[in-house]
This record gives sequence, structure tokens and C-alpha cells, in this order.
Amino acid sequence: MKDRLEALRAEALDRLQTVEDAASLNDLRVHYLGKKGQLTEILRGMGALSAEERPIIGQVANDVRAAIEEVLARKQEAFDRAETARRLQAETLDVTLPGKAPAVGSLHPLTKVAQEIEDIFLGMGYTIAEGPEVETDYFNFEALNLPKNHPARDMQDSFYITDDILLRTHTSPVQIRTMQAMKGQTPVKVICPGKVYRRDDDDATHSFMFHQVEGLVVGPNIRMSDLKGTLLQFVREMYGSQMQIRLRPSFFPFTEPSAEVDVTCVKCGGRGCRMCKHTGWIEILGCGMIHPAVLEHGGYDPSEVTGFAFGMGIERIALLKYEIDDIRHFYANDLRFLSQFAKM
Ligand code: DAH
Repeated sequence: MKDRLEALRAEALDRLQTVEDAASLNDLRVHYLGKKGQLTEILRGMGALSAEERPIIGQVANDVRAAIEEVLARKQEAFDRAETARRLQAETLDVTLPGKAPAVGSLHPLTKVAQEIEDIFLGMGYTIAEGPEVETDYFNFEALNLPKNHPARDMQDSFYITDDILLRTHTSPVQIRTMQAMKGQTPVKVICPGKVYRRDDDDATHSFMFHQVEGLVVGPNIRMSDLKGTLLQFVREMYGSQMQIRLRPSFFPFTEPSAEVDVTCVKCGGRGCRMCKHTGWIEILGCGMIHPAVLEHGGYDPSEVTGFAFGMGIERIALLKYEIDDIRHFYANDLRFLSQFAKM
């Protein structure tokens, strides 16, 4: 029996020497040491041994098992190491390779400027109101003190849908909608950004569709100086703290008195250049004290409250801010133009 054990050891160690992969190694483990393996097979004969022989053979059997196990373990470890090395090799990532920058979009310059305008007024305690782009004659004209056949309607050539419905020509109708929604409460303090439409031929300074921001403040004792201070603050936050404004008398049916506001020329700083036609000033918006008839249409009593309003073109604010010379750039969706605003 001892000879059979020794022969088993020799055979097992011999075959283990040449095993080439983990699966064959496992087969050999089962073949020699498994429950139904060769070693167990030999040890079945133990019962026939004498009491003296049994411990001796038992010792030999243990030695054989230990010797086989040791080689199995060594081989297993070698296979494990090789497998790890193979995977490291196969799954190598070269983190020093140059990356591919993902194409990141950016906000449209008009969106940026609109958000900037909104932020400035939100900072002054305004809220944002919106109204429909398809508007009634009443809100777009009538309630703003522009009755039918009023010559000032010609100031804004309109896209009519029916006799009574049109694409709004300005954001001013949101003034009336906001006042009516507030039902006489004060203060009213909103800005109203949005698209407006006019029957203009497109050129470097005109577009049939553009954007405006309307401002509206109603309350007791609102004065023209409040309007002027508000606009000065806005202009300085938008273009820089050195900016000045001047108000020139003007006419709008919905305000009385009305003014047009000029800002220090953004290009020459007021010294005079081609952009400001050597005046040092650039016109940026219209404004005024709300006409009593307009307050009444909004549901407010002009003997109790006053208010101011202003309206500006977002394109105009943006053209000046970025010194762009043609409004059509905003609508052409040319990436060479748009991508310049990505990092601004
Ligand atoms: N609605 C005017 C326009 O589109 C702009 C404007 C002027 C708005 C004076 C106002 C204002 O609120 O007070 O030309």
C-alpha cells in the first residue's frame, strides 16, 4: 500500500509539472484528491491493515496529500498571477492620450442679454410678467390710449390676423394685462420680456420680429425722478459705472410726459465717434409717466396712484453691448457668430 501511495505521489507530481491551465489543474485536483479520487481509492484498503501498520500508512498518506496540495497551490497561484497580468494588459487605459473635448453649446447672445436685463431688475425688486404674442387690438392699442384711426398707430405697422387680432407690435400690452391682474393692488413693479412683430423690411437695423423688455411701476407718489434713477442704475449695471443718461422730451400715446433715453456712447465714452454720429450719446429706450387714461384701463385711479413705464429693444441693448453692426446676425444661426459668445 505504501508503494501504491508513493507511485501515486510520483505520478501526480509528474502530471502537475506539465499542466497548462487552471481548468486542467482543477481536473487533476479532483482526480487525485477529490472525494472519489485516487487517494481516497487507495485509502479504502486501510481497513485491512494491522493496528501497527495503520498509523505508518496514515502518515505516508498525509505526506502524499500534503505534497500534492503544495504543488497544486503553487500552480494555482502562478495561474492567478498570469490571469491578472493578462487582464491588466488587455484593459490598459492610456490616461496620457489627449482627450476629445465634448462640443458644448452656449446660450444665444439675445438670451444672455435678456437674462442680464432680468437679473438687474430682479435685483431691484421687480418680478417678471409675460403676455401673449397674438394680441387683441384692445390690449395692443386701444387700452394704451391709441384709439382706432389714431395717427400714432402708423408708428408701428402691424401684422393683422383679423380686424381685431394681431401680432403684438410691442410689449406694452402686458402693462394693461398686469395692472388688470393686480386688481388695484400696489405697488406694481414688473418687467415684461418677449417677442414683438412689425411689418418692416429686414435690414441691418430692422427685423420683422425682435425682442423687447417692458418695465412698469405703479404706486402712490411714483415720480419721474424714480424713473430716471431706475434707468441710470440699469444702464450702469449693464454698461459700466461710468455711464450717464440723458432724457429727451418725446411722444408716446401711453405716457405723459414721455422721453427718449440716451446713454453715453459705449464706443467712444462720450467723446464723439462715428457710431454716435459725433454726439457722444446713443438712444436706447423710450419711457415716461403712465398716461392717466392708461392707468384707468388698468383699473387704477389716476388721482390716487401714478406710475412710470419704459420699453427697450433687447437687440439694441445687445448690439451696443457687443458692438455688433447688423441685427440679422442674431437670427442667422451662424455658429461662427454664436460661438463667440460662449465664454462671455
Ligand atoms: N412701446 C414702445 C415701442 O415699442 C416703447 C415704449 C415707449 C414703451 C415708452 C413704454 C414707454 O412703456 O413708456 O416703441
